[in-house]
Amino acid sequence: MINKKIEEAINSQINAEMFSAYLYKSMSAYFSDINLTGMAAWMNVQAQEEMTHALKFYDYIIERGGRVRLMAIEEPAFDWSSPIEVFKASYEHEQYITGRINDLADLAIKEKDHATGIMLQWFVTEQVEEEANVSEIVSKMEMIGDAKHGIYMLDKELGGRGAVSSEEE
Ligand code: FEO
Repeated sequence: MINKKIEEAINSQINAEMFSAYLYKSMSAYFSDINLTGMAAWMNVQAQEEMTHALKFYDYIIERGGRVRLMAIEEPAFDWSSPIEVFKASYEHEQYITGRINDLADLAIKEKDHATGIMLQWFVTEQVEEEANVSEIVSKMEMIGDAKHGIYMLDKELGGRGAVSSEEE
């Protein structure tokens, strides 16, 4: 049986992951609106990944005999001043999520919940990848600046990101 403090913290994380999916869908809509369809597709895949993260936590609570509680999802940002601002916002958001995962891992140690600690290891590793991916895109965009050809090439490259496979979940 899962302890109530851990159950509450994971329920809150389900909400944070669903918000992440909502945020990335909003970013995808922004890119669609300015015809950067590759970046829009990249953000769509990112949103799908966030839903798999939410469902991992959801399934875990149930597996441990706890009760899932779904809460209201906050409205995400709607507009950004430029494509690079979107990826910068995404990078900041991932750093925030990493902080939350670390807090959860600390709580699992404090509550001596080793099963939750082991489950969270996957997320600790995943956050390293999430931050690295977005940070790389921000660096590329800084190199490109306002060069239209560069943006076009990067949009093409990002559009090649495949859909989420079961191994990535
Ligand atoms: Fe679920 Fe992007 O962290």
